[in-house]
Amino acid sequence: MRYTSAVVIMLASRCILAFRPFVAKPQQMVRLAATSELVHARVSRKDLSLELKTITNELDTVLSHLKARRASAETLQAAQDIAALASKRSNLIQERDSFLNQRKEASATVGMLMRKNELSEEEQKQLEEAKKSSTKASDGATAAETHLEELQTTMDDLLSGIPNLLDDKVPDGDNDSNNEVVSTWGDIDALPRELGWTEEFEPLWHDDVASGLKGYKSEAAVRISGARFVALSGAVAQLERALAMFFVDLHTTKHGYTEVSVPYVVGRSALEGTSQLPKFQEDLFAITPESHTCNGEDAFLIPTAEVPVTNMHREEVLEESDLPLSYVSFTPCFRAEAGSYGRDTKGLIRTHQFLKVELVKITSADTSDEEHELLTSQAEACLQALKLPYRKVRLCSGDIGFAARHCYDLEVWLAGAKEYREISSCSNTGDFQARRMSLRYRPKSEAGADGKKPKKEKLKLCHTINGSGLAVGRTLVAILENYQKPDGSVVVPEVLRPYMGGKEIIAVP
Ligand SMILES: *[C@@H]1O[C@H](CO)[C@@H](O)[C@H](O)[C@H]1NC(C)=O
Ligand SMILES: *[C@@H]1O[C@H](CO)[C@@H](O)[C@H](O)[C@H]1NC(C)=O
Repeated sequence: MRYTSAVVIMLASRCILAFRPFVAKPQQMVRLAATSELVHARVSRKDLSLELKTITNELDTVLSHLKARRASAETLQAAQDIAALASKRSNLIQERDSFLNQRKEASATVGMLMRKNELSEEEQKQLEEAKKSSTKASDGATAAETHLEELQTTMDDLLSGIPNLLDDKVPDGDNDSNNEVVSTWGDIDALPRELGWTEEFEPLWHDDVASGLKGYKSEAAVRISGARFVALSGAVAQLERALAMFFVDLHTTKHGYTEVSVPYVVGRSALEGTSQLPKFQEDLFAITPESHTCNGEDAFLIPTAEVPVTNMHREEVLEESDLPLSYVSFTPCFRAEAGSYGRDTKGLIRTHQFLKVELVKITSADTSDEEHELLTSQAEACLQALKLPYRKVRLCSGDIGFAARHCYDLEVWLAGAKEYREISSCSNTGDFQARRMSLRYRPKSEAGADGKKPKKEKLKLCHTINGSGLAVGRTLVAILENYQKPDGSVVVPEVLRPYMGGKEIIAVP
């Protein structure tokens, strides 16, 4: 276990509250707290969602989650600022209400005096006073109200930079080296045996395999578009398309997803709904406002189909009986890849543009964990059908994405690079995105007893789940590396042959 000293101090203070007469060394305190409310060295989320109220009332819990995420000092400060502003806000509300009361009293006096036919000099003076104090109270209330609105905007802006709370299942850790391997599937020696690899055979990297097949045109792509763009041709290009078709067909016919075809250009508020903005603008390809805007907003190329697909239901109220909604969408994705300078510069692993088949579920709070497991298993089914060995890892607190509360990565075995690489990331965001896009559902109402009218249920926030099923470019990488033969040809996995005109092998031309 690992905890930062601030967490220990904070937890210790919680302990002191809980075990007041007991004065213990910090070590003991943490151990005691661990039996009551700690998971992975942070305070359990329980049923809390990330919203202003939680940050104000449960600041310790929120801070322990931010520390678990290895959040920046700025983010921690933002949460503390929100809590401080909330108490300022309640003072302002009191101030405004007291001004409103003053105004009411003064207006009553004015009204009372105005109804008189004749006013004494004393009463005349009283009336002037009351009018003055009514105006003053009114101005005071307006000023407080304006101040309140500003405060609310500041708090909302701060909130948009705070990541989701973590599920209890998320292990603590600094980075991907602390992710938890949940399971592994397949035997990494099975395909090599089947394909006749000898002891001496050194499997090639995917780009060298593709070049050998004359299907990899990286110089041409770089000439056209610059670094991190790739062009494919012939059977290799066809194989990429076959993969996408196979995935979409599998999810629509076997897994019950509805296929959607969505815009590749989206406005700022769609990206705010799924929380890529405001925090991750440098990861996006922006379109200049002179060339195009979306309903007057800044326009961007989509980083994942999840953005347009989830936003299709923005600000809607769905019926619980219609949930879960399950969508599959095949799109290109565009990433600026800021911050990955020098990493994976070779081949198809990290490109500015790649194809992905994306799965999205919109569900109720009660079924979200179950649907997350299901969606992950449906992404796994793609790898199993292709007989590609992989492992499933649970991302640790320092590696998990901003919006996710629980996330599995599927990592496929790459025989050339001799390592596991991420090929799918399946996240449950709980109600984090739904809150940002005001996406709710009406719970099923229990039919009242004795034929009484069912009572109207309060609306609840939906839960959103997304995952790649799968990233097409990386699956192509895995096929080229795992299905290569020592003579340079590549065997077409059986399930893809119908999409390749029956071709069983891509031979060296
Ligand atoms: C990942 O975290 C471990 C400690 O948990 C550390 O030793 C390692 O340097 C970190 N790796 C990177 C790339 O930061
Ligand atoms: C799932 O959604 C998150 C937040 O929008 C996004 O960062 C991530 O890329 C999405 N995952 C996939 C596989 O598209």
